[in-house]
Amino acid sequence: MNIQEAEKQINQLRDQLNQYNYEYYVLDQPSVPDAEYDRLMQKLIKLEEQFPMLVTPNSPSQRVGGEPLDAFQKVEHTVPMLSLSNAFNEQELRDFDRRVRDRIGDDFSYVCELKIDGLAVSLSYEDGEFIQGSTRGDGMIGEDITSNLKTIRSIPLTLKKRVNLDVRGEVFMPKQSFLQLNEIREKQGEMLFANPRNAAAGSLRQLDPKIAASRNLDIFLYGIGLIEDEEIHSHSEGLEFLQSVGFKVNPEWKRCETIDEVMTFIDGWFEKRSNLDYEIDGIVIKVDSLAQQLELSTTARSPRWATAYKFPAEEVATKLIDIDLSVGRTGVVTPTAILEPVTVAGTTVRRASLHNEDLIKEKDIRIGDTVIIRKAGDIIPEVTQVIFDRRTGIEQPYSMPDNCPTCGSVLERLDGEVALRCLNPKCPAQITEGLIHFASRDAMNIEGLGEKVVEQLFNERLIHDIADLYKLEKEKLMKLERMGDKSSNNLLEAIERSKENSLERLLFGLGIRFVGAKAARTLAESCLTIDALISKTRAELQQIDEIGEKMADSIVRYFEKPEVVALIEELRSLGVNMMYKGAVRTEAEQSDSIFAGKKVVLTGKLSKFTRSEAKAAVEARGGNVTSSVSKKTDLVIAGEDAGSKLTRAMELDIHIMNEDEFQASLDEQG
Ligand code: IVH
Repeated sequence: MNIQEAEKQINQLRDQLNQYNYEYYVLDQPSVPDAEYDRLMQKLIKLEEQFPMLVTPNSPSQRVGGEPLDAFQKVEHTVPMLSLSNAFNEQELRDFDRRVRDRIGDDFSYVCELKIDGLAVSLSYEDGEFIQGSTRGDGMIGEDITSNLKTIRSIPLTLKKRVNLDVRGEVFMPKQSFLQLNEIREKQGEMLFANPRNAAAGSLRQLDPKIAASRNLDIFLYGIGLIEDEEIHSHSEGLEFLQSVGFKVNPEWKRCETIDEVMTFIDGWFEKRSNLDYEIDGIVIKVDSLAQQLELSTTARSPRWATAYKFPAEEVATKLIDIDLSVGRTGVVTPTAILEPVTVAGTTVRRASLHNEDLIKEKDIRIGDTVIIRKAGDIIPEVTQVIFDRRTGIEQPYSMPDNCPTCGSVLERLDGEVALRCLNPKCPAQITEGLIHFASRDAMNIEGLGEKVVEQLFNERLIHDIADLYKLEKEKLMKLERMGDKSSNNLLEAIERSKENSLERLLFGLGIRFVGAKAARTLAESCLTIDALISKTRAELQQIDEIGEKMADSIVRYFEKPEVVALIEELRSLGVNMMYKGAVRTEAEQSDSIFAGKKVVLTGKLSKFTRSEAKAAVEARGGNVTSSVSKKTDLVIAGEDAGSKLTRAMELDIHIMNEDEFQASLDEQG
């Protein structure tokens, strides 16, 4: 066969395979058996092997290609990827409608769409060829995840029309695929994903496209970012156009003339959503006409022509089988409900935090009770109430034990606290939690030393306290499960590097009560060395800006303990730095961080950070975390299910960041 003949055949095969792929993955209407598809694919692969000069990046044979990447490249979005304002109830939706009417009058229509609970991505096509795909990132700059996106079969590599465009959509993992994935992970002893959205996000963040390829991801496209040479006048025309050139568009969209019609659409889907094979967390409402969208324009964060109606948390009843206890870093003992597994919003819930004994008493929760579990988006499930009607009489009231479930010491309730604490500093549970904190990102930042590794090291008796970390030997490390030559070296290097950290990281990492990341920085800046800090009296400490009586007392008491004195000396002899290394900066000089000197409010549930981690991250960068939103607030970081604080921030036109943006800004600033 000559090259011209090969090219002709290859092109024909590609067209045919693209069409079959489209029928299977976009239309869900295969026209040929799988075996026929495989046969043509094999034929194409063979021909491409014979004529490697004819291989193109968008050939259907190249969906899963290439070596794993070292890192994702940054991509600047030509048109920013905005997020949406939220409406949490009918009134807020009607307020949105009123604002629209005030600006453009009454002559307009809406388009309602399902709000797919996945990850926003942008796909760029040139001349109908897929050239790049990226994550949303902070809306302006995302990451190039082209090779992972190419593995998603419903993303066309070549469009039916040779257009230049940027298109936006949501990558998601179908519920069924999510359940199967977690089942496999559980069997293999791997960490489970909390929900389909996290699983989709985790898959797209993999540097090896083979992993994304194995994850059965899918996509719905819902908007055009940029398009050349096409006459499109409305959002609905845009959706039809996207569908006509080969994209997968969710079919359940509807044009609505009035806000009452919108409400009916919302109510209908609230009922029907559990029948879908993918998760939705609300309905998106958009003004249809593009001219009117332009007239309404956008705020810094989100368009005025669209909003997202968020569904309230789903509630499900299940049985509370038992109550388990865990001991945290500070010795606080937390009760957790062990539940009969139940699916809430598409994910299986087996445990739910009960917070403390008072809450158990207040809600009169007993073992054996039927309880209501609530979970919005990816928040940690909570027991909201007991269904008293279901009591049979055999339910057992619960009392917290007198002794620590890990070490057996007597538990105590400190003055004014609801929590019970184990005060034994040698309690294994506290030690491991303390070590995890010591290694965490805003403390000593020891990469690779997470919960699992710490627990293994502790259980194998390789470490008993912080100082032991600096005495670890490679031979012993390698005996641990999943610790090969490379990971042992990496871990030892990360530990070694941490010796050079500036003092504030060590101070925060030690876990002194009330000393958060920000206070640690203030203390380090003002004292410069740990010895200077240790020698200060309560009164002297209180002279330092923002160090109050409670913290001063806690610091003095901490450094008075003989075991702490010994620990500090040991760390020093092991080469751990105990001096402040940063320049002594004024607040204004700290302005290289976007959080520096800012009043920040955290609201809603974050999935990747605990509240205290998020607070520590802001404080470590010079920000001030406060609890209520006022005119003085500079920034609101809003997680899932954010309520009145978010609404207030929107009213006051305060800069709002979602969790992804927050994460991205931390990643950027280190
Ligand atoms: S439109 C400027 N439509 O919801 C408007 N978003 O903050 C951009 N989402 O980041 C979004 N389904 O990830 C739109 N049908 C839909 C959507 C949708 C899910 C996500 C998207 C966006 C977030 C809202």
